[in-house]
Amino acid sequence: MFVTVFGQKGGVAKTCTSVHLASIWSNQYQSVVLVDADRNRSASAYGARGLLNFEVAPIEAAAKATRYSDVVVTDGQASSSQEEIKNLVDGADVIILPTAAQTRSLELTLEMAEHLKQFNVPFAALLVKVDSRKAKAAREIRQALEAAGIEVLRAQIPLLAAFEKAENAGVTVDQAVSAAGKSDPRRMIGWHAYTKACEEIVELVPQRTNVIPMHPIGWDTTPLEDRRAA
Ligand SMILES: Nc1ncnc2c1ncn2[C@@H]1O[C@H](COP(=O)(O)OP(=O)(O)O)[C@@H](O)[C@H]1O
Ligand SMILES: [Mg+2]
Repeated sequence: MFVTVFGQKGGVAKTCTSVHLASIWSNQYQSVVLVDADRNRSASAYGARGLLNFEVAPIEAAAKATRYSDVVVTDGQASSSQEEIKNLVDGADVIILPTAAQTRSLELTLEMAEHLKQFNVPFAALLVKVDSRKAKAAREIRQALEAAGIEVLRAQIPLLAAFEKAENAGVTVDQAVSAAGKSDPRRMIGWHAYTKACEEIVELVPQRTNVIPMHPIGWDTTPLEDRRAA
């Protein structure tokens, strides 16, 4: 399964999303690799302490690193070049567009969706950095995306300081610890949100390209054949 996280530049949580999808799937599949396709190499920096439960490979090393992978998550770099977009799409079974609950981010996702509609690859927006005090703004962004015919994952990722704490420590949000050394009280809210997103993303992947998890947890464990027959 090839999942590409992609879209706008500038801190819309592409890398954070890639890292968390890869980490959650690493608990379910035998081999997961995160391909860092961003020139800024932020996914590689995130994993530099060696504390993540999957390998991060720079794009130049991706071919060999992903040879035996069940799941490849690509942290794509923002692009408006038609050719780059086409290449990223060609390499993906599903594309995830992180989108913040802000007008500018909405516009950029709408624009990218127009490009992506010409290809035969499923894509979906994921609302990220959703401020719980601004639930209405998130609802409006979701409605605007849906009105434009764009699939939006039901899961949405809350804005939590735990994500930044986790990144600074080179770990995923479930292991976020405060400066005082205490577990962040809200860390599992972030983790569960990405877990839900993972479940929905797997459902978007055309079944012929899907692989059965080695260690399925918390989701449909019916063998693929039986699911197809159902
Ligand atoms: N849900 C979130 N809540 C709070 N901070 C977040 C969240 N997601 C990401 N961040 C932080 O936002 C910053 C930008 O995220 P990043 O994933 O690097 O964005 P991008 O890859 O799109 O440039 C990072 O400091 C990251 O820790
Ligand atoms: Mg990034």
